[in-house]
Amino acid sequence: MLYQLRAHGGTAPSNCIDFSTPINPLGVPEVIKQIICESIKDGVYSSYPDYSYKMLREAVAEFYDINHEFIVPLNGAAEALYLIVGVERPTAAMIFEPTFGDHRPLFHILSMNYISIQYTELFDRYTLPFNILSSLSKSIHSRCIVLFSNPNNPLGVCVPVETIEKILQMYRRCIIIVDEAFIELSNNCESTLRLTRDYENIIVLRSLTKTFSVPGLRIGFLYTSNTNLLYKIELFRQPWNLNSITNYVFSRALHEYRDDLRKFIEYSKHVIECERQFLEQSLHKLRIHFYRSSAPFILVRFHTDVKYIGQSLRRLGVWIRDASTFQSLTKYHGRISVKLRKDNERLINVLKSVLEEEYT
Ligand SMILES: Cc1ncc(COP(=O)(O)O)c(C=O)c1O
Repeated sequence: MLYQLRAHGGTAPSNCIDFSTPINPLGVPEVIKQIICESIKDGVYSSYPDYSYKMLREAVAEFYDINHEFIVPLNGAAEALYLIVGVERPTAAMIFEPTFGDHRPLFHILSMNYISIQYTELFDRYTLPFNILSSLSKSIHSRCIVLFSNPNNPLGVCVPVETIEKILQMYRRCIIIVDEAFIELSNNCESTLRLTRDYENIIVLRSLTKTFSVPGLRIGFLYTSNTNLLYKIELFRQPWNLNSITNYVFSRALHEYRDDLRKFIEYSKHVIECERQFLEQSLHKLRIHFYRSSAPFILVRFHTDVKYIGQSLRRLGVWIRDASTFQSLTKYHGRISVKLRKDNERLINVLKSVLEEEYT
């Protein structure tokens, strides 16, 4: 069916714990829930949002200590690529795979040439093949975009800022898009936001959808000091691209509860780190191969087809992401989002019984 053309992970059945959607396992902060309720009570949904999103831009700028003039609020980080491709009309693109699955269909439908560079698999982690990038840089002369998620989804690998700076220097004529959708929930992964001070060819993407666990509201932003590009995006973007509830809630929450929400992010990172370690140790005991991750999810490689494992887990109330749909991964790969301890223990127990069943 046409509306099933896009290969995302699917929706978790309502009777399953969802380990497939990678968002903050702590859920929506109470203050945000409270402001959502107030927005409904005040009938915010019956007006268009302020077209310029002035208050939202200022709240985001204050919260992240960045320049409000360099921000474009987005209907989720995923909106950015469509805007950038729309205004830049690049003749070529370079992507690093496996990655978030929406890039290829876009390039395909626009008949854009793209180069796919595969992350290199080491035993228990992946790494960016910098030497390939370096040799290709001499042959790319056209207007191009270079796109990678940092940390990468689904690999969890994080490229150091110093490496990204070298890429910016090597590809001066290209626009480098660094999708930091998961960075606020990741450990040992430094943001590239500071590079925007010295380089105009970088665009950083952020997803508050992931950070504050609001996939039903959707909010992100792009950040760049390239004023020419910002000018074009401002004219090109869809009017009212964020809805009035999202605009109201985050304009207020980021400003009025700045310190609380900053602490919430720090605490989230801490919990995710502890829980990821718990999951890694448990997977190790179960002899399930996994890859080192900085992100709030772990890529695993089962001995058996992930579809079979997934079906068995589903019967026991657990839903994981079949990662075989990601470019260059195999039918054995799955992705597990880090959740809170009770759910993580449930996953491990259920996995254990599925594997025991398999070997008996
Ligand atoms: C790398 C990456 N960027 C962006 C997104 C989408 O973010 P948002 O929901 O804010 O559009 C995802 C979703 O999983 C993702 O994996």
